[in-house]
Amino acid sequence: MLDRPVDAVTSDPSLRRGPRKPKLLSVEDAKAMSVETMADLFKDHINPGQFHFMKLLGFHKVKIERAEGMYMTDQNGRKILDFFGGFGSLAHGHNHPRVLAARERFQEEKRHEIAIAFLSQYASALAKNLAACSPGELDMVFLGSTGSEAMEAAIKVAERASGRRNCKIVHAENSFHGKSKGVLSVTDSPLYQGDFKLVDNRVKVPFGDLDALKRAIENDSDIGVVVLETVQGGGGIISAPTEYWQGVRALCDRHNVIWVADEVQCGYGRTGKFYAFEHHGVVPDVTALAKSLGAGKAAVGAMIARRDVYMKAYGTPKTAMIHAQATFGGIGEASITAIEGLNVLYDEDLMGNATETGAYLLSRLKAIQAKYPKIVKDVRGQGLMIGLEFHDFSQTLPLALRPMVAILDDKLKGSLSGFVGALLLRDYDVLVAFTEYNRNVIRIQPPLICGEEHVDQFCDALDALLGRGIVSIVKDFVKTQLG
Ligand SMILES: Cc1ncc(COP(=O)(O)O)c(C=O)c1O
Repeated sequence: MLDRPVDAVTSDPSLRRGPRKPKLLSVEDAKAMSVETMADLFKDHINPGQFHFMKLLGFHKVKIERAEGMYMTDQNGRKILDFFGGFGSLAHGHNHPRVLAARERFQEEKRHEIAIAFLSQYASALAKNLAACSPGELDMVFLGSTGSEAMEAAIKVAERASGRRNCKIVHAENSFHGKSKGVLSVTDSPLYQGDFKLVDNRVKVPFGDLDALKRAIENDSDIGVVVLETVQGGGGIISAPTEYWQGVRALCDRHNVIWVADEVQCGYGRTGKFYAFEHHGVVPDVTALAKSLGAGKAAVGAMIARRDVYMKAYGTPKTAMIHAQATFGGIGEASITAIEGLNVLYDEDLMGNATETGAYLLSRLKAIQAKYPKIVKDVRGQGLMIGLEFHDFSQTLPLALRPMVAILDDKLKGSLSGFVGALLLRDYDVLVAFTEYNRNVIRIQPPLICGEEHVDQFCDALDALLGRGIVSIVKDFVKTQLG
């Protein structure tokens, strides 16, 4: 405790006993910062290479001042329709009033946060809620802060429960499970994997190919874990039919293999059911959630395992601490945010809305595909997790335009989605997401509060943009690069 009032120390630096305060920006400084300063600080202290891509898309000129529901408002008062939704992190929209109110009450009551010394009523309640939302016997919960952390926990619990000494893990081509060192090994991206030394106990199979999975499992008894996104997000919104998932369940049962379903992006009601695997009448042994679990205000990830799987891995006092919650696992305000978020999800029937509004969105996008068959190759997805794939640019771009595009960065050269995304924002105030592994796909994952009027705003903008034709789209985009 200070033996002098804080005010005295602040106004008279000679009273200070500890280090002098460096030149720090205040919260108000951060809020009032200019776009230029924000960009400079990002380049100087966060990621100069990433800034390059933001600039290419024109996103570097936007500073968001406010976010509410389906919209963000920038420094010029422009309202941007959010059809990106933080890659599926904003089921409740921005700053849902009930979530804000729960957090305010929690702060006013001066509740405690870190739940390591004592048990936490908030973490316990959140775990109970997650068990209640999960089918079958998925009722043991590990709480963390990110999707990667949840997936690390999922793979570790599965590996231990598999009972194999040299357990191997099957994952899919074009998979994305996070970038932390463990899950990076089962994330199928040479870019992200870089030159890191990864775990080598992994086997890759094509996504959705039951015969390939069967061959892998039947030929190698060390395979003890299968990890799959139920809908591949980074792969470009790719799903597999019910027969595949029922086959995965049967194969895993027959060979005593643990099936881990990554629902970090496709779960939490995005496809119209709480988990995407529920569309197929199967239940995995372990699953993981994150993103929208934090209700757009907190960083929360969760691994949910069947009780017998969990107990096999960590069920005794001797094994209990092998993978117990980390410092921020289940912390107070994050947990109550997630609790309120789950209640809102059901109270406001957001999953019913995802089904209904998603069907409307899909039908409007299919009509756009029919109108521009030379531009739009495919529209796919379920609920409010939709991918729109453009034809490969290199085959559709007139020869005369190729030198123009040659000035662009490699990342954008072959990708109509980059041009469309940039122009949707610049000219129509609409934000969409790109796709890691397939640059021709835009990911459409608006908040689950999305209404038909938002779908119309988005689809009218897309229709108007595509109506310009590829040549104009490319020219308009290149002009912004030169200007
Ligand atoms: C399917 C899937 N798994 C895991 C992750 C990793 O989540 P996080 O970025 O919170 O670590 C993501 C993130 O996009 C994801 O889409």
